[in-house]
Amino acid sequence: MTTPARAAICRGNKEPFSIEDVELDELRPDELLVRVVACGVCHTDMAVRDEQLPVPHPVVLGHEGAGIVEAVGSEVTVAKPGDRVVMSFNSCGSCPSCEIDAPTYCYNFFPHNWSGTRADGSPVMFKDGAPMNANFFGQSSFATHAIAHEANTVKVPDSAANIPLEQIAPIGCGLMTGAGAVLRSMDVRKGMPIAVFGTGTVGMAAIMAAKIVGANPIIAVDINDERLALAKELGATHTINARGKVVEQIQELVPQGLGYAFDTTGINTVIQDAWSLLAPKGICGIVGASPPEDMLTFNETAFMGGGRTVKGILGGDSDVGPFLCELLDYHVKGQFPFEKLIGYFDFDQINEAIHASEDGSVVKPVLRISAE
Ligand SMILES: NC(=O)c1ccc[n+]([C@@H]2O[C@H](COP(=O)([O-])OP(=O)(O)OC[C@H]3O[C@@H](n4cnc5c(N)ncnc54)[C@H](O)[C@@H]3O)[C@@H](O)[C@H]2O)c1
Ligand SMILES: [Zn+2]
Ligand SMILES: [Zn+2]
Repeated sequence: MTTPARAAICRGNKEPFSIEDVELDELRPDELLVRVVACGVCHTDMAVRDEQLPVPHPVVLGHEGAGIVEAVGSEVTVAKPGDRVVMSFNSCGSCPSCEIDAPTYCYNFFPHNWSGTRADGSPVMFKDGAPMNANFFGQSSFATHAIAHEANTVKVPDSAANIPLEQIAPIGCGLMTGAGAVLRSMDVRKGMPIAVFGTGTVGMAAIMAAKIVGANPIIAVDINDERLALAKELGATHTINARGKVVEQIQELVPQGLGYAFDTTGINTVIQDAWSLLAPKGICGIVGASPPEDMLTFNETAFMGGGRTVKGILGGDSDVGPFLCELLDYHVKGQFPFEKLIGYFDFDQINEAIHASEDGSVVKPVLRISAE
């Protein structure tokens, strides 16, 4: 039996998202039907709208969903009907990366997240009886209901029972990526200096995580002074407006060089500057979406001589369930106060929410889709 739903359909960047009637397919054994309560808006949704990523259009986006499970397939163990869940990215569970609990680097990431269908090519969603591209990040949560999977669904732990789902929703992408970059991918050491370039959701999460591990100093760099002020509230010890002389100011603060430089801007000149500031054994982590033709240039001697690392990071090397529960634990204890980034919008204000993300006025827009 199919499930009727309302979903925001993206037909590219020439027209606004439009909320329309759709049907969801019957559940497969490893799938869950989730009534979506809320969904964060992320830059990756816009990158797909703008055709910077190879996801077919028209498509239902949304990959930071949280909701209540309505039904489960026969093999699902992660949650049961009635459970509160948060959804993240999907993975195959059996490739060499998934085997070592590194699903963000799943060899089959594309078919499980970006193909518009299930990995086997079958549609999860229909519109007027015809297949509709969905299953985005294994969820497509800009909708009243989503089909999620055993691999990308996390039951919200009882310790977070008092946190509303609309607040938890965005934890499965940008927040996880920034925090995971610090806590997992770069494994930042206490007392070591870090600079974070770009203080959007990903950069702010990295700053909160850097404070958790006791990095020092924690230098936030952005062109937006309001964001820099918030970065300071969340843990940055120093802030630098990128319109000034960033390299010189960081060299003055940390003459021995940075232990860690984390770029979320995706701008190659910013990344090269960040890299040039590394101390011996320093790590430059990069996460930002960048123009596909862009290249990075590093001096070979400096690269080899200091044992420096440039590290591409996806999803903060999250293993999904355990790491999201760890982050929720920090959140409950007040150490990961990401609620300060959120601005709420009703589902039918989705285009306003996207606009607020793009003009920088709201760090993390979250759509309220149904009452919890
Ligand atoms: N790799 C991953 O797994 C992953 C996951 C989520 C998001 N992303 C990507 O990470 C990037 C950051 O995401 P976000 O949601 O934080 O985006 P965002 O746009 O909110 O943040 C980027 C910040 O960079 C600032 N900025 C612009 N130019 C700058 C400059 N020259 N120097 C310093 N700062 C500058 C902007 O003012 C903005 O605050 C995006 O490209 C997004 O697509 C990657
Ligand atoms: Zn995202
Ligand atoms: Zn895999």
